[in-house]
Amino acid sequence: MTWEELELTCKNCTECPLHETRTNCVFGTGNRNAKLMFVGEAPGEKEDLSGIPFVGAAGKLLDKYLEAVGIDRNEVYIANILKCRPPKNRDPLPAEQDKCIGYLREQVRLIRPKIIVCLGRIAAMRLISPDYKITKEHGTFVDIKGFTMTAVFHPAALLRDPRRKEDMYTDMKKIKEYLDRE
Ligand code: URA
Repeated sequence: MTWEELELTCKNCTECPLHETRTNCVFGTGNRNAKLMFVGEAPGEKEDLSGIPFVGAAGKLLDKYLEAVGIDRNEVYIANILKCRPPKNRDPLPAEQDKCIGYLREQVRLIRPKIIVCLGRIAAMRLISPDYKITKEHGTFVDIKGFTMTAVFHPAALLRDPRRKEDMYTDMKKIKEYLDRE
C-alpha cells in the first residue's frame, strides 16, 4: 500500500464503533523518512478536533522534552495505537486495538524507523510485551523484529505525577544519543 492509499483507507475506516463518535481520524503526522517514530495511545479531544496527534496538553509537554534534548518535531513521525478517540478518553479496548493495529504496522513498514519509542504503558504493552512494566522498564532498549524499541512515560502521566519528569528527561536524552550514533 502507498501512503495515500493507507491514509484514505484509515480515514474511511468503519471497522470498530469508534468511527461513529470521531470528529476526525487521527492518522499520524511528521517525517515519512523519520529515523525516530513515537507511538502514543489514542487521540484525545484536541487531537480528535484537529486530526493531528499530540497537540493537546500532553503534546505540548512532549514538545518541551523534544526541544530540551534537541530533537526537531518535524524530523520525527508521531502516531497512535488507535486512530480514533475513545469516548471520555478511556483506555483502548483490546478489540479496538486489534482492528486498528494494521494501520500502524503499515506505517512502520513504510517508514522503517531506526527506533520506535512507545509513549506510555498502553503502546508498550501492545508493541513490546503484554507484561511490560513501564515503571521498571522505561528507557531500556530492546530489539524486536529488527527494530530498536523503547518506552518512556506518557506525557499525560507526567502531568499527573511530576516526580517522573527527571526519568523522562534521562530517557529522552538516551534516545537522542542513540539517534546521533546511527
Ligand atoms: N495522548 C495520546 O496517547 N495520543 C495523542 O495523540 C494525544 C494524547
